[in-house]
Amino acid sequence: MPPLEILPLNGGFLSDAAALVCGRYAALRRATPQLPPRYERPAELLPRLRDMARRAPGAVAMRDGRLVGFLAAYLLDSFRGHPGVFSPEWANGAEPSLSRPVYEALYAHMARQWAAAGYSLHGLSLFTDDMAASEAWRWLGFGLGAADGVRDLRPIGASTLGLAIRRAGPADLDQLDQLDEGLHRHLVAAPVFLPLGQPAGHDELAADLADPAYAFWTAWDGDRAVAFIKFGPASENACAVIHDSGTTSITGAFTRPEARGQGVAAALLDRGLAWAREAGYARCAVDFEPMNTPAARFWTAHFRLVCLSHLRYIDLQAG
Ligand SMILES: CC(C)(COP(=O)(O)OP(=O)(O)OC[C@H]1O[C@@H](n2cnc3c(N)ncnc32)[C@H](O)[C@@H]1OP(=O)(O)O)[C@@H](O)C(=O)NCCC(=O)NCCS
Repeated sequence: MPPLEILPLNGGFLSDAAALVCGRYAALRRATPQLPPRYERPAELLPRLRDMARRAPGAVAMRDGRLVGFLAAYLLDSFRGHPGVFSPEWANGAEPSLSRPVYEALYAHMARQWAAAGYSLHGLSLFTDDMAASEAWRWLGFGLGAADGVRDLRPIGASTLGLAIRRAGPADLDQLDQLDEGLHRHLVAAPVFLPLGQPAGHDELAADLADPAYAFWTAWDGDRAVAFIKFGPASENACAVIHDSGTTSITGAFTRPEARGQGVAAALLDRGLAWAREAGYARCAVDFEPMNTPAARFWTAHFRLVCLSHLRYIDLQAG
């Protein structure tokens, strides 16, 4: 087999790179038609790739004069508290039949540059349908860091239980504060260890409760809120390919520990999906940490995974 040639990513390669990602995305969308159609068009991705190529180095893999893969990443002063690089799912790609050797060669090339510049946390997001690529990155020392799922808005047929379910408003701030603090405590503790700052706090929560773009669906036992799920516009903190005016993102969910495993979150999800249909959305997205076991079980039961982020930390001070 002819060898791979690794070259710097420059403007001349960007159209082929965009076409590669769009082709891969179209394949993903055939399996998950809930995804927005727009990212099948290279014109949607080209400006982002052009911008990235101007800001940061990247590499392409060529075989027989043909682009078969590429890898570029944002350079971040602080990525989860470390100088790091992150390649969104539109900033890397490989022909599926070659993804393992292509990604291995590209990472060997880029990792040298990233480490020399002091970037110790390396991350990239991959479409979920290329298992060989995911396996390649696992062998390169990467583990899962985040997961993104989407679903349609059809009812899931959850029972409404004996609890009252309603949309929370500004008057419910104190109860929502308690639930939000519970969620924060859960995410910073073992085994998730998410490096979050302080909880959203009264002001941010109060603003979102008063904002009609957000819907906090809540379950109540008398005057005590036992669970919430927060719906709103497409999340900026999720993978890029869910971004669309037709996407509502879930950006928070918490059931008090004593109320778990009885279908409360499922009932709230069902109610939120009904709200999203009425609000004119076409799909619902969620992102979560794979090591958050109860969340991972819940979301993967109701959503189809579309992107997985992979992370590797290198101790550049060692040795
Ligand atoms: C994720 C979370 C919100 C789910 O809430 P929940 O109210 O327990 O969710 P449900 O009860 O609807 O579903 C949970 C499980 O109970 C099961 N269940 C539902 N109704 C049931 C019933 N009547 N009897 C027995 N089991 C039931 C579900 O099948 C589900 O099983 P699974 O975990 O094997 O998929 C909750 O675990 C939580 O708050 N976790 C901590 C915070 C967090 O991680 N939030 C998400 C951040 S992304």
